Amino acid sequence: MARTVLVTGAGRGLGRELAWQYATGGWQVIACGRSRPVHGTETGIEFQPLEVADPASISALAARLTGRPLDVLVNNAGVRSPLSGLDRLQPEEFLDVLRINTLGPLLLTRALRANLRLGSSPVVANIGSRAGSMAEGLLDDDDDDYAYRCSKAALNMATVQLARDLQPDGITLLSLHPGWVKTDMGGAEAVLPVEESAKALRSIIAAAKPEYSGAFLAFDGRSVSW
Ligand SMILES: NC(=O)c1ccc[n+]([C@@H]2O[C@H](COP(=O)([O-])OP(=O)(O)OC[C@H]3O[C@@H](n4cnc5c(N)ncnc54)[C@H](OP(=O)(O)O)[C@@H]3O)[C@@H](O)[C@H]2O)c1
Repeated sequence: MARTVLVTGAGRGLGRELAWQYATGGWQVIACGRSRPVHGTETGIEFQPLEVADPASISALAARLTGRPLDVLVNNAGVRSPLSGLDRLQPEEFLDVLRINTLGPLLLTRALRANLRLGSSPVVANIGSRAGSMAEGLLDDDDDDYAYRCSKAALNMATVQLARDLQPDGITLLSLHPGWVKTDMGGAEAVLPVEESAKALRSIIAAAKPEYSGAFLAFDGRSVSW
């Protein structure tokens, strides 16, 4: 039987590519997005509306998916701040980024826990960022987007706590850094084609084992320091 993956933020960028690659590989794909793709979804890809910042939207999705096994959940949807920099930081904008990048993945994972329990060797992949690493994030990156960095650091903690809480269900959690990827977010100067990043992330997810649950890995398989 085909395995099933759910990808958030699947309308463009990395999420779209992941959905496409999984579908091409024979998976059943549930592609979630804020709006239905203008040209419809590719063959074999099911669209489900989801606004990850809205707990009601998450609950409604979970209700529609009741009883359906889920093998992989990719919490991919993410945003940066409209304006970065300490002086331009706005409290509501900061919290909006955390709602999308941190709270959304946490609530969605909890909401779909029963579906993951029905899956085989289930994996939750939280798409994080090296920008959220306290040890590595500032090494060669002068980004000053406080909300983005904090949201991804907090997502790492959510990954670790979820790894412990979902261990009895056999659900493996990963935080994954996709590299600097050529998408709307990564920009044209990014070094990694989206196809390569998605392919690498799929390999890591496929190789995930319960004993590594809670790990923070980069697209090239390297362990990223917290
Ligand atoms: N690109 C990079 O270099 C890079 C590096 C490190 C980490 N990442 C992470 O990789 C993930 C994917 O990034 P990307 O480069 O593909 O970004 P992107 O091109 O900007 O795409 C972001 C996706 O997230 C969706 N999204 C944003 N807010 C949402 C919300 N409230 N509810 C539902 N969907 C929402 C967007 O949907 P709409 O079309 O509706 O806006 C879009 O599909 C993100 O978590 C990002 O932080 C990216």
